[in-house]
Amino acid sequence: MDSELDHRIALALLEWQLELGADEAIGEAPVNRFAAARLTPQQSPARPRQAGVAGDAAAGAQSAATADPVAEARRAAAAAGSLEELDTALRTFAHCPLKRGAKTTVFADGNPAARVMIIGEAPGRDEDIRGRPFVGRAGRLLDRMFAAIGLARDSADSASALYITNILPWRPPQNRDPTPEEIALLLPFVTRHVELAAPGMLVLMGNISCQALLGRRGITRLRGNWAQALGRPALPMFHPAYLLRNPAAKRAAWNDLLMLQARLKEEK
Ligand code: URA
Repeated sequence: MDSELDHRIALALLEWQLELGADEAIGEAPVNRFAAARLTPQQSPARPRQAGVAGDAAAGAQSAATADPVAEARRAAAAAGSLEELDTALRTFAHCPLKRGAKTTVFADGNPAARVMIIGEAPGRDEDIRGRPFVGRAGRLLDRMFAAIGLARDSADSASALYITNILPWRPPQNRDPTPEEIALLLPFVTRHVELAAPGMLVLMGNISCQALLGRRGITRLRGNWAQALGRPALPMFHPAYLLRNPAAKRAAWNDLLMLQARLKEEK
C-alpha cells in the first residue's frame, strides 16, 4: 500500500473513532493490538498505569477499601476549615472512581468573595485539560451572559464578581451524566464549598445541579423561579450548553439574568 493511501486510511479511521465519541487518547504508549492478541494471558504485559489524577501517593494510600465512602466524604469535607483545605481534601479523596479517568481536579474559579456563586454540572474536556470550570464553548457563553448584567469571574469587587464551581470536580467519561451515587458521594464537598464561600445567592446551572441541590429535575419548569438551596436563595437556569443547542431558549435565560440582577439590587 503506498504511503499516501496509508495516510488517508489512518485519517479516516481516526475520524470514524471521533464520530463514535472517542475524543482523547488515554494510554501513554501505543499498543500493538495484533501482537497482544497473539500472546497467552501469562505472556501479556501488565496494563500501563492509567493517566489521571488518582495516582498520587496520598490517593493510593487512602484507596484501601472504605466501608462507607459517603461517610468518608462527609468527614473529609467537614474537616476542611478553608477553601484551600477543601481543595486539598478533594485532591486527596480517593473514593470516587471518576477521579481515575480525569486529568485534573477542577475545584473552582473566580472570586470566592462574590455575592453570586454559580454551580454547574461537571468539567467537560476543556475544563479537564485546563483545571478550571466553564472554560470551553459553554463557559464563554456563560461569561458573556453574566457580563450583560455586569458580573464577571475576574472582578475583584465582590458586588460584581462571580464564583464558579461544579457538582463534580472530575470529568465523567465521554461527558456522560453523573449517576445519583456519584452526586451523593460528592455532595458533602459541594455543601462545604458553599458554606465556606458563603455567597449571598446561588445560580444552579441545569438539571444536574438542580437534582443535587433541590432534589428535583425539570429545568424547563424550575428555571425562572427562586428556590432555597443550602439555606440560600437559589435560581435555577438553563445550562449554557443547552442554550448553545437551543438558541430559542436564550430569551428565557435573559429573563432569569434580569431576575438575578433585580434581586442583587434589592438586597444591596
Ligand atoms: N459544564 C459544566 O456544567 N461545568 C463546566 O465546568 C463546564 C461545562
